[in-house]
Amino acid sequence: MTSKYAEVYQNWQNDPEGFWAEAAKEIDWFSPAEKIFDASEGVYGRWFTGATCNTCYNCVDRHVENGRADQAAIIYDSPITNSKKTLTYRDLLIETQALGNVMKSHGIGKGDRVIIYMPMIPEAAIAMLACARIGAVHSVVFGGFAAAELATRIDDSTPKFIISAGCGIEPNRIVSYKPLLDEAIELASHKPKATLVLQREQQACELIKGRDFDYDVEMAKAREQADTLPCEPVLATDPLYVLYTSGTTGQPKGVIRDNGGHMVALKWTMKAIYDVDPGEVYWAASDVGWVVGHSYIVYAPLLQGATSILFEGKPVGTPDAGTFWRVISEHNVETLFTAPTAFRAIKGQDPEGEFIRKYDLSKFRNLFLAGERADPDTIHWAEDKLGVPVIDHWWQTETGWTIAGNPMGLGQLPVKYGSPTVPMPGYAMDVLDDEGNSLPSGELGNIVVKMPLPPGCLPTLWNAEERFKSAYLEEFPGYYQTADAGFIDEDGYLFIMARTDDIINVAGHRLSTGGMEEVVAAHKDVAECAVVGIADDMKGQSPCGFLVLNAGVNRDLDEIKKEVVTLVREKIGPVAAFKQALVVKRLPKTRSGKILRSTMQKIADGLEWKMPATIDDPAILDEIKEVLDQQKA
Ligand code: COA
Ligand code: AMP
Repeated sequence: MTSKYAEVYQNWQNDPEGFWAEAAKEIDWFSPAEKIFDASEGVYGRWFTGATCNTCYNCVDRHVENGRADQAAIIYDSPITNSKKTLTYRDLLIETQALGNVMKSHGIGKGDRVIIYMPMIPEAAIAMLACARIGAVHSVVFGGFAAAELATRIDDSTPKFIISAGCGIEPNRIVSYKPLLDEAIELASHKPKATLVLQREQQACELIKGRDFDYDVEMAKAREQADTLPCEPVLATDPLYVLYTSGTTGQPKGVIRDNGGHMVALKWTMKAIYDVDPGEVYWAASDVGWVVGHSYIVYAPLLQGATSILFEGKPVGTPDAGTFWRVISEHNVETLFTAPTAFRAIKGQDPEGEFIRKYDLSKFRNLFLAGERADPDTIHWAEDKLGVPVIDHWWQTETGWTIAGNPMGLGQLPVKYGSPTVPMPGYAMDVLDDEGNSLPSGELGNIVVKMPLPPGCLPTLWNAEERFKSAYLEEFPGYYQTADAGFIDEDGYLFIMARTDDIINVAGHRLSTGGMEEVVAAHKDVAECAVVGIADDMKGQSPCGFLVLNAGVNRDLDEIKKEVVTLVREKIGPVAAFKQALVVKRLPKTRSGKILRSTMQKIADGLEWKMPATIDDPAILDEIKEVLDQQKA
């Protein structure tokens, strides 16, 4: 089939509002929009102003009303606990009503924030949908973060209520969530009114009288009353959720997602990009704590009336590198979406793809990769071993859906390895030099999106409108700065090469090296430090800290390094995967005092590098190289 992409993109360019008005017909609105796009509202305009709707209604109720009540909505498959469970759309309706009623009984309503701190269990998705049902704004916090990170999010989003679970399970340990939750509440200045805690059989936890409520007990009461709970009408522009993501400091950015534009955009992507029809089985192997989990474990597949797999496990080790193929064959998965790092992990353990041959993957149609650059080696391996198209696509927490991809539902475009293909409707792309001049094709520069952003993208940051403007909109007026560097080739294909800020990508997880530096610098023996992301075969990048110690410190260096590693784990969390710390005499700097992190990174990765013209003392780079060589030896 020849691709309809060019025609569809052109349609959007000719009439952006008409394009999204047409897409909006796929959503059931309580009342229609007064304006499709109102440029006078918000920081840069708002989508579907005046419309009222409910995201839970569109994800759950309407499918029950339209004959999908008995279809699986969520299949929970947990090799790590050896359990499985299917929730039909009817089950989801019952559960979201019950949890909505529990929250209401605690005084939670429209606009109130609710933090969800849970592992990959169906109750996490139910909690998100139940918040949407009552118009509350959820903020899901990934389980791999430490108490201090949770506390920061509590203080910023000021939740009335927190929904959590006793523990999460990692292959090498049980992660006790409850002590982390208690410590976070202790650390935070804002205190939630109550918490709802799901006890898991793997590890029971103590509930604090008067503050903590047992999930099962409260839900049983609500179910017994069998009260229905209609979906609360909210404005299309009201927030559905706040999701914190790494910024250039230790203070994370609260990305806001609205209700209306988000539904319109995600629903459009399910067919056009992923080529998934209602009733089909779709699996995003990510975590509900990340944007991929929000958009493609929960909201988009359910908006589409598809079946979503919620997987509690890892690509390897639960129990082996065949887990993904077992899940695909057992549940008839048509489409898988994951991060390249998962494939590198599988390839590392099963280079010949022997596990793949053990399973019937005849239903499997497409593999989508995102979260980090999909290296051509990984794509080739996956194509070769799986025999299905492997589609790289590029997006960010801020956008919530694909900026550039290969829209399978419109007909696949030719693949260029190393490129996530072309911009999706909604995104007019350009590449600018640092002065803001548009660069010719093939030249590397700052990748930007011409304003306004399409539906589904962030309208602003929670409690931080000025930061939204300064971080994204001010450097290149009229454009959204993606903070990714790359180029557009002569065929309009995008190539995403690197971040222009201090964000690194570790196992598909977005982390701020600036945030890590803040923690490392707080160690009593550290005078200054630099954290850079260095190449890692499996995780893509891994953080490495270069420490300069205070004068006169003569303690055992290994002790100090160990303490620094522990500190990052305690303050940010295991997900930071900060395991390498090196002590150096000095850090290389420019004459104006800027640390030359990218030169250090190139030396560490063994890449070619040029002596920066502005370097203060070139000898320091030799010292860095020496320490790195000693470390490798
Ligand atoms: N709760 C608590 N701890 C968690 C966690 C969670 N939800 N997720 C990860 N961690 C811990 C891990 O146990 C590990 O701890 P350790 O230092 O004690 O071993 C640490 O955080 C680092 O985790 P990770 O970087 O994920 O490394 P890993 O070796 O455990 O797993 C992969 C590597 C590639 C298998 C894994 O990262 C993966 O499956 N990635 C898929 C990518 C993905 O989901 N991306 C999201 C965007 S699409
Ligand atoms: P996150 O907000 O966690 O989704 O991370 C977004 C960042 O991950 C982007 O700004 C990119 O730097 C990187 N990224 C995500 N997907 C891709 C991709 N397909 N190719 C290259 N980089 C990617």
